[in-house]
Amino acid sequence: MKKYTSVDDIHNLDEFLQLAKKIKANPLGNKELGKNKTIGLLFFNPSLRTRLSTQKAAQNLGLNCMVMNLNTEGWTLEFEDGAVMDGSASEHVKEAAQVVSQYCDIIAIRSFPTLTDKEKDEAETVISSFVKYASVPVISLEGATEHPLQALADALTIEEYKTSPKPKVVLSWAPHPKALPQSVPNSFVKMMKKMNVDFIVTHPEGYELNPKVTEGVRIEYNQEEAFKNADFIYAKNWSSYKDYGKVVNRDSGWTVGKRQMDVTNNAKFMHCLPVRRNMIVTDEILDSDASIVIPEAHNRVYSAQVILTKILESLK
Ligand code: CP
Repeated sequence: MKKYTSVDDIHNLDEFLQLAKKIKANPLGNKELGKNKTIGLLFFNPSLRTRLSTQKAAQNLGLNCMVMNLNTEGWTLEFEDGAVMDGSASEHVKEAAQVVSQYCDIIAIRSFPTLTDKEKDEAETVISSFVKYASVPVISLEGATEHPLQALADALTIEEYKTSPKPKVVLSWAPHPKALPQSVPNSFVKMMKKMNVDFIVTHPEGYELNPKVTEGVRIEYNQEEAFKNADFIYAKNWSSYKDYGKVVNRDSGWTVGKRQMDVTNNAKFMHCLPVRRNMIVTDEILDSDASIVIPEAHNRVYSAQVILTKILESLK
């Protein structure tokens, strides 16, 4: 595996899930694989889970790990080809990516979307530039349009908690005070398309995701209808794709609570975290046995470790 910047980079999900289970059963079983190798984690945005779980996965494989908050600690980067750099940017990504490649065997990057420049976000300008100019494999720690490490952890969690061969999984929009990226729902939709699940996306009108991503997926505007007999409820907020980056509805009737969960098949509740209590989901549900958000976060370690294992094996 030479990069992991999209769920599309997984060609055989079952193989990845089997490896994740094997790693989870014995996380230190391949401690020599990353010996004398280094991963650099570059953050343009905040993180708790992605940062710590990827470091933990790297440690489990014997990798050295360097972490840098590039937005606050590094030079401001220029991404435009042929730019006259007379503004705030001090260094072009062409040099930066090549330089980091001298110190690291793998580069991992978090860079959120602008949510104002759709074209730039869809081009994944930051991560794509590192893929283009770095001489080592690149991993997305959440980009402008995808969060593929999260989606792999979500797939592993559903695999572990399902009680039927083809569970019903619902991705539900939920309200939030701020405009959030579409990265998590995009990757989740792509991942569910690879799994043997009965999958529905539900959201108010105006929150349709990129139609290329949801092609072939059932969209239901009635949340209660979507939740009926569901085995997994995955709640997430995202901003409008059509009215790009805008919050077009904050309907608190979409907050996941007992009323919605009561029509499910004793569904498990999932969320990538961080979660706004009593906005996305009520305390009652998040604090109940239905919630599997903590084991889901735990699985972030094994999701990262699977990808690092695959990439390190390709470097041998
Ligand atoms: N789920 C997730 O990516 O969490 P962080 O933003 O804390 O890394």
